[in-house]
Amino acid sequence: MNWTSVAPVAEFKEGDVKVVDADGVMVAVYNLDGKYIAIEDVCPHDGSEIATGCVKNGILECPHHGATFDLRSGDVLTPPAYEPLEMMQVRVEKGVVEVRDGRWD
Ligand code: FES
Repeated sequence: MNWTSVAPVAEFKEGDVKVVDADGVMVAVYNLDGKYIAIEDVCPHDGSEIATGCVKNGILECPHHGATFDLRSGDVLTPPAYEPLEMMQVRVEKGVVEVRDGRWD
């Protein structure tokens, strides 16, 4: 899969989340304390989008039924989800944040 541009670093502030279509996979990208983190925009509980959930201290809470996840690792912390988030690859190339689905490499 190719890398997909998300936004220039200058337009991607701490605390922001942006959702992009990366070759057919919806990816949510977070600027968490200056570090970029990308996940598939899918809650493992029932497959709903999750990017509209709140993030506090690096913990993402699903907006649908309240499962929580550690955004840095993708680990699930509380039910009703039992599987981790799908982590995506993220990098900064020439000042632009880019993501890629590397699961099928
Ligand atoms: S869809 Fe996320 S907790 Fe149910």
